[in-house]
Amino acid sequence: MSHVPVLLHSVMGFLNPQPNQNFVDATLGGGGHAKEILVHTSPRGMVLGVDWDADALERLRSQSIPRLIMQKGNFAHIENIVAENEFGPISGILFDLGFSSLTLEESGRGFSFQKDEPLDMRYDQDNPRTAAHIVNRYAEEEIANILWQYGEERYNRRIAAAIRATRKQHSIQTTTQLLDVIARAVPTGYRHSRMHYATKTFQALRIATNDELENIRQGLTGALKILPPKSRLVVLSFHSLEDRIVKNFLRDNKDTLTILTKKPIVPDRAEVDANPRARSAKLRAAEVID
Ligand SMILES: C[S@@+](CC[C@H](N)C(=O)[O-])C[C@H]1O[C@@H](n2cnc3c(N)ncnc32)[C@H](O)[C@@H]1O
Repeated sequence: MSHVPVLLHSVMGFLNPQPNQNFVDATLGGGGHAKEILVHTSPRGMVLGVDWDADALERLRSQSIPRLIMQKGNFAHIENIVAENEFGPISGILFDLGFSSLTLEESGRGFSFQKDEPLDMRYDQDNPRTAAHIVNRYAEEEIANILWQYGEERYNRRIAAAIRATRKQHSIQTTTQLLDVIARAVPTGYRHSRMHYATKTFQALRIATNDELENIRQGLTGALKILPPKSRLVVLSFHSLEDRIVKNFLRDNKDTLTILTKKPIVPDRAEVDANPRARSAKLRAAEVID
């Protein structure tokens, strides 16, 4: 299974890569967008590709892609990462906040409730906090808040209470154990609704484990500090919490940025049919004012 780059054509349209320009791909993942950028920036343009998932970088390293510099790191520190690599001048930065299908299918770290795996959910194995830590150690109230804020899970209180009751008997260490707890906590009707009843809980735990929303805020702020006049910022987001942060960030920086997407760009039917993961994608782009 490979990761199909989302809204590839629009991303390229907004980044507008030209021969010998340099770009930062803050979320390198499977390298789909980066490879396309490199096609347009030949012969000497470079891409600095950042990802905090060592496995993702390892998979790409074996492909030995020319003009691609790979750096493990959290894009929250994008400013330092770019400085340490003495990378530039930069013509644009891409953030693809989506969830890589490779991570979902192959990581073995409990991102998917369809697999029986340890409840880890860390993209970055150097992060000391796992999803199991949150589930087994956090106060019931705190868990309920996480499920509500990051998952908009309406049965957050019932699920949090069930987690607390269960962990008094035994700790919850696997996706299957957690799935079981959720199934027992939610009403029968909810268990048979169109969206899987564990979707929101898993999303919320993943966001909390990785501090995803705070990273986005810091990443965008850092990006703006290193983007020179006329350069471009392109962000793909995949749920309303992310998109709200991006939208507000662009709006709050109108003095420095020209917003290129009055409304977010979304994939057309054909793309969603071919790649269901593109379904909720929203692209926003801006250019730094001269
Ligand atoms: C959807 S994938 C990117 C796919 C890529 N655009 C492509 O075309 O193959 C998102 C990637 O961002 C990485 N990621 C998520 N949050 C990150 C962060 N804070 N810092 C660095 N990488 C991050 C994930 O590990 C994942 O590999």
